[in-house]
Amino acid sequence: MVIIMLGAQGTGKGTVAGIISEHTGLVQLSTGDIFRKNIKEQTQLGIEANKYIAKGDLVPDEITVPMVVEYLDSEIVKNGVILDGFPRSLAQAEKLDKILAERGKKVDLVVNLTTPRDEIIDRILTRRVCSNPKCKTTYNLKMHPPIKEGICDKCGSELIQREDDSNEESINKRLEIYDNQTAPLVEYYRKKGILRTEEVSIRINRMGKQVASDIIKDIQEK
Ligand code: AP5
Ligand code: MG
Repeated sequence: MVIIMLGAQGTGKGTVAGIISEHTGLVQLSTGDIFRKNIKEQTQLGIEANKYIAKGDLVPDEITVPMVVEYLDSEIVKNGVILDGFPRSLAQAEKLDKILAERGKKVDLVVNLTTPRDEIIDRILTRRVCSNPKCKTTYNLKMHPPIKEGICDKCGSELIQREDDSNEESINKRLEIYDNQTAPLVEYYRKKGILRTEEVSIRINRMGKQVASDIIKDIQEK
């Protein structure tokens, strides 16, 4: 099974994908997390990707697409995958369709998360993530803070703020890129009949956990 998480920055793609992954065994493949791991380890890929990520730009397809293909072909995703952060443009979506078709697969479900813009900015500024790349649990200082300040509840590692989350300029640039390049994918997948749109917002009292549990139920019934 191939699931795509679609949605602007801070809508909860990583949060929802993490919960679905925990309950279904589908592997969460976050391109942003892979880039950040490489940046931390100062690999060639990380050094190159950081030139774009720090500014809030998309990493070029020549770097991103082969990296995703390598993961899709690896043993860990043989039971299915939740793509979190890929594709982000029509070009990437078309490439993904081709890559999957060559492997006898297809995209089964696209989960499109929507959240009001002011809520998104507030969530990103108050997001903290576990620094342990094996854990990566996401917290929110307002909505779901850790029990002990600055420490991950699950693994005890230090919580950090992502570099691209710390300034509003980079956040706004990421949102602008979403509007221009990623938002057209909503129509692309709607036409294919595989789009499921979910509003995730404090205003309607519908949080990532509920959205994830509804999706898990549907996956398990299928
Ligand atoms: P990436 O890591 O994917 O970052 P992003 O797109 O900015 O998305 P986010 O991770 O910010 O949002 P999210 O929806 O996962 O939100 P989260 O669950 O954390 O990419 C980083 C960079 O890598 C890109 O800018 C780009 O440069 C590069 N890149 C990645 N993929 C690429 C690609 N395909 N092509 C080219 N370049 C690529 O939630 C946000 C916050 O809200 C958290 O604090 C969370 O605790 C909180 N929260 C979540 N749900 C709720 C809720 N329901 N109520 C209240 N708070 C909530
Ligand atoms: Mg994320």
